[in-house]
Amino acid sequence: MEQITIQTDFAKDTLEGLSSRAKYLSSKYFYDERGSKIFQDIMHMPEYYLTDCELEIFNTQKQGIYNEFARQQAHFELIELGAGDGLKTKILLSHFLNYKADFKYTPIDISEEAVKNLVTDLENEVPGLHVNGQIGDYFDLIDDFNFNGHIKKIILFLGSNIGNFNEQKSLDFFNQLRTVLNPQDQVFIGFDMKKDPDVIMKAYNDPHGHTAAFNLNLLRRINDELDADFETKNFKHQEVYDPQTGAAKSYLVSQIKQKVIIRNLNQTIWFKAGERIFTEMSQKYDLNMINDLATKSGFSIVRNFSDRRQYFVNSLWNLKS
Ligand SMILES: C[S@@+](CC[C@H](N)C(=O)[O-])C[C@H]1O[C@@H](n2cnc3c(N)ncnc32)[C@H](O)[C@@H]1O
Repeated sequence: MEQITIQTDFAKDTLEGLSSRAKYLSSKYFYDERGSKIFQDIMHMPEYYLTDCELEIFNTQKQGIYNEFARQQAHFELIELGAGDGLKTKILLSHFLNYKADFKYTPIDISEEAVKNLVTDLENEVPGLHVNGQIGDYFDLIDDFNFNGHIKKIILFLGSNIGNFNEQKSLDFFNQLRTVLNPQDQVFIGFDMKKDPDVIMKAYNDPHGHTAAFNLNLLRRINDELDADFETKNFKHQEVYDPQTGAAKSYLVSQIKQKVIIRNLNQTIWFKAGERIFTEMSQKYDLNMINDLATKSGFSIVRNFSDRRQYFVNSLWNLKS
């Protein structure tokens, strides 16, 4: 057999996921240029309540959020992991700047396009803001951060990014964060709450077809970047929600028995009819789950900010002393 060299993390992870017994692909690869654009369509559709809820929280409680951020130290740095287009964060940034707050903003995203667009947008929309955009995987970048002791850092992890992790991965993530944080630092995390399953299902399986297009775009990305021949019409987006555990899971289901050739990986992948590729976890929480996660990760909750329907919670955490 011809020997091939696996060049990128995307190639390595795709090979691992599609050769495993229960096939999977990592959701962090959704966000190529096309994926980032489709995600903006998702964020703007009425069924995707998550955006409206976090917008409502920031619009109505920005002063309360600022008071907590600036409580012990007026000078701070906001580091946002997976910032995307920063749509909601801009509300806080503008408010803080109008309030003459002394802070700088470091958005991090794996999507080069997202970071470049965000930095340009901020120059126009929030002039005077001190921005330091970083492109890369936050798991890699976080360890390199200059967490020098005297400037307070607040890590923003918004828009239910945390929901993409299962419990173990969340614990690993917070443990990694804890090792680089100083006692005065804080984390501010968006949690999507358990609610009427119909509301959740409509957000992840919408009538406009945006979530389906977003999920199927992963296959198109493999075609483009790894020279594969996925026929996207032979796969269907599927969403499953378990109200008990709060796990919403996205799959791509093979509609027929088929084979797919991935030339850059020198692989032929076989699919049975009905076989699924697991592509994304979107965990939903309740207040006890948030409290348990904070406690198990070595943090304590300072304050929860919620929207009027209690659909979403932005939770501010301190390191446990
Ligand atoms: C669901 S979007 C949320 C964007 C934004 N935080 C919001 O609330 O609207 C997730 C973002 O995280 C980025 N992302 C996902 N995994 C990442 C990783 N491991 N490292 C850096 N960025 C990542 C994606 O590119 C995308 O822009």
